[in-house]
Amino acid sequence: MDKKGYNRRVPDPSPVTFGGWLRLRRKYLDLTQAALADQVGCSVAAIKKIEAGDRRPSRQVAALLARSLRLPEAQQAAFVRVARGELPVERLPAAAGVTGSPAGASAPAVQHTLPTPANALIGREVELAALARLLMDPRCRLATLTGPGGSGKTRLSLEAAHSLQPAFAHGAAFAPLAGLAAGAGLATAIAEALRFTFHGGEAPLRQLCDYLHDKHLLLVLDNLEHLLDDPATAQFVEAVLQAAPRVTALATSREPLRVAGEWVLEIQGLPVPVGPDGAETSSAMALFAERARQARADWSPDEAERAAAARICRLVDGMPLGIELAAAWVPAHRPSLHQHHGVLHIGME
Ligand SMILES: Nc1ncnc2c1ncn2[C@@H]1O[C@H](COP(=O)(O)OP(=O)(O)OP(=O)(O)O)[C@@H](O)[C@H]1O
Ligand SMILES: [Mg+2]
Repeated sequence: MDKKGYNRRVPDPSPVTFGGWLRLRRKYLDLTQAALADQVGCSVAAIKKIEAGDRRPSRQVAALLARSLRLPEAQQAAFVRVARGELPVERLPAAAGVTGSPAGASAPAVQHTLPTPANALIGREVELAALARLLMDPRCRLATLTGPGGSGKTRLSLEAAHSLQPAFAHGAAFAPLAGLAAGAGLATAIAEALRFTFHGGEAPLRQLCDYLHDKHLLLVLDNLEHLLDDPATAQFVEAVLQAAPRVTALATSREPLRVAGEWVLEIQGLPVPVGPDGAETSSAMALFAERARQARADWSPDEAERAAAARICRLVDGMPLGIELAAAWVPAHRPSLHQHHGVLHIGME
């Protein structure tokens, strides 16, 4: 860690525990340990031990907890399995999709600013779990997802925001910043993402900080790289994090922000097939096949075409954007995917 408190590598954050998730959800619903114990029919000491990770609930208690924590029925079985240690805890927020609102609170005000991805996420289980652990770690106020252009930072941040929003009382908001010309515009862009309207003559940053002060929120700042040379960017991020102690920021950027307290998670391309024929399963080939089939539903590659697709995946280092662009050639250029690979190869030499 350097003197600004900047973490270049992500240290292994303590994993989110089932007990930690339980505590978060209980607080989100504004339940005391005593109230939860009462609903479940166990002792307060038992709830304390479960939250502290000293005890696993029995199947029966876990099922009662699921109901008291207002998990939708379809998600209760997974909850019980996580409680029993049969599924990883990362399944919880995703499995939660928790619909119950905190008692006496209005529904999360900013949920609707999260765009729904047009396609399913392919692969990235490890990165998603690491990101979820980081964002649920109370020590982390700002996580930055770095990686080359087109490596899937935005896609991954969106997935993380969707799966983790139930763990934040005010949900998650997504601010697309690629089109922003200067750091000075950040307050307005974030206010738009939050659907917050400025009023009166007070400075926008001050108003935004006041608004965020008591919010429990995951704030995605997407595509910040072109604003990093502008000192206003770091100042903005630092001011928001200081004013809003329960806001966690997730930035995506080709480079780290180099802001105090930042945790950096670097991603690379998707795993590529190692064998020449692309026969084995890999995320890169799965993405290629899905995009090719989107372009032409009956795409069913022969051996040579699969081998060419595998070479393309390797050539672009598993970068999702490169794979998508290459797979888009499939309908127009059949049967010459091999030639396509040749063109790509020449273009990259
Ligand atoms: N794991 C994935 N599964 C499915 N599609 C993906 C995956 N990762 C990325 N994509 C798709 O690949 C394309 C590039 O991804 P994305 O825009 O997230 O990259 P990026 O790293 O944010 O790029 P940039 O640095 O230009 O902002 C997008 O169309 C995205 O939907
Ligand atoms: Mg992006």
